[in-house]
Amino acid sequence: MTDTAVATSPFARDVLAGLAHRPRAIPAKYFYDEAGSRLFDEITRLDAYYPTRTERQILTDHGDEIVDAIGKNAALVEYGSGSSEKTRVLLDALHARRTLAAYVPIDISRAFLFETAAGLRDAYPGLPVLPVAADYTRPYALPALPPETSRIVVFFPGSTIGNFTHDETRRFLAHVATVVGDDGALLVGVDQWKDADVLRRAYDDPDGVTAAFNLNVLRRINRELGGDADLDAWAHEVRLDDDAQRVEMHVRSLRDQTLTVCGRSFAFREGETVHTEDSHKFGPDGLAGLAEDAGWARQRRWTDPRAWFAVELYAAAPGPR
Ligand code: AVJ
Repeated sequence: MTDTAVATSPFARDVLAGLAHRPRAIPAKYFYDEAGSRLFDEITRLDAYYPTRTERQILTDHGDEIVDAIGKNAALVEYGSGSSEKTRVLLDALHARRTLAAYVPIDISRAFLFETAAGLRDAYPGLPVLPVAADYTRPYALPALPPETSRIVVFFPGSTIGNFTHDETRRFLAHVATVVGDDGALLVGVDQWKDADVLRRAYDDPDGVTAAFNLNVLRRINRELGGDADLDAWAHEVRLDDDAQRVEMHVRSLRDQTLTVCGRSFAFREGETVHTEDSHKFGPDGLAGLAEDAGWARQRRWTDPRAWFAVELYAAAPGPR
């Protein structure tokens, strides 16, 4: 790409705007280049990172009920499928009863997506796997679905919904409602607010994998935007906001320095940060409230024995939106 082409890519635009803005921030979706997706995958296997394991347990323990609630011949459209690893638990339950019309994984990381899709076709013979390489927060086109498809069910696991601000969540949910239509549904994983030590450990694990994941956004800036970040001069930082029920990640400058991106220079003081991620947690009815505002009604809720995580099923609320 030419310099101008690089500087006008969505990544470049968002990074340049985010570094110029106060407080400085880079959208969390840019963690997920190939290296970042692999690091996230590693996070999901850490002892300290409870969400993936807990959500998988819920899907395993309540799989039959979830399959019943989804209904026959649904097309399952997964937002941010990554390695589709925990989806396999759900696909196992759905495929065992031959009740799924298609699986449509959507991910921003193209190479990872197609690798995963190939593995799924081997694992679930006869199941149409129709990957879409896209940023699901922007307009995208669904592939042609098999004629027997009865409804579209968007699956949004992992509490990725927590990355949005509450306003973004309302807008996002309203958008999903238009994607799935009147008979559609949303199956969503929602992390719950809990003990501060448990949360902190999950986002600042002793093995430093989350630190590497967070700092990878700087590596990506170096690789793709001609950045000059010195990785020894930046640190991973986690902040808990009790009132907002939110875990934040930042990268913190360890000295006074200049960061150059696409030929533009940004001055940092020692201790200054760039906000890289919000991970909102919810109370038992927290998401349901936001979803109602967006025209959804909660149908079911499944949780683990400690109530650390929840999987919730929503359908379009009856009546005019
Ligand atoms: C994939 C967005 C749900 O917020 O827990 C993991 C990403 N960030 N460790 C999360 C993440 C730090 C994760 N989500």
